[in-house]
Amino acid sequence: MKRVLFVCLGNICRSPTAHGVFQKMVDDAGLSDQVEVDSAGTAAWHIGKSPDSRSASAAAKRGYDLSPLRARQAVSADFEQFNYVLAMDKENLTNLQAICPPGSRSAPQLFLYDFGKAFPEIEVPDPYYGGDAGFEHVLDLLEDACSNLLTDVRQQL
Ligand code: 4NP
Repeated sequence: MKRVLFVCLGNICRSPTAHGVFQKMVDDAGLSDQVEVDSAGTAAWHIGKSPDSRSASAAAKRGYDLSPLRARQAVSADFEQFNYVLAMDKENLTNLQAICPPGSRSAPQLFLYDFGKAFPEIEVPDPYYGGDAGFEHVLDLLEDACSNLLTDVRQQL
């Protein structure tokens, strides 16, 4: 069993999108019983909320269902529970490093730095205050990095 946690700031745009994209890749690969996917935010603002409607509709157009997801905050215990803790940007990474207990099973990683290949970005830009193109770009970046992550997870199983 491998467990993957995607983390952004609010857990309503980027990390739920990564969650939905990767969950579909895992399901399509027939690995749902061997790979568990979750997402969280470093901030507490949106706990219990559904993903942002702009993220949900952009994802739905590409076949990803974000409707079951609800926001939660990342906690120190996540570093014991998850094999991968993947930050969307450097601020999220710094916030995660601050709550990662020494000697934990996992250390947080910058998702695109470690798994992105097709685009030059090493951070997933926050689309919250921008237009629809930002949500499409988030999907482009995440589809690329998630497919490379799946290759890595398969090797670890
Ligand atoms: P996310 O985007 O971190 O990708 O979920 C944001 C969502 C909400 C806020 C900022 C970023 N906010 O300021 O409420």
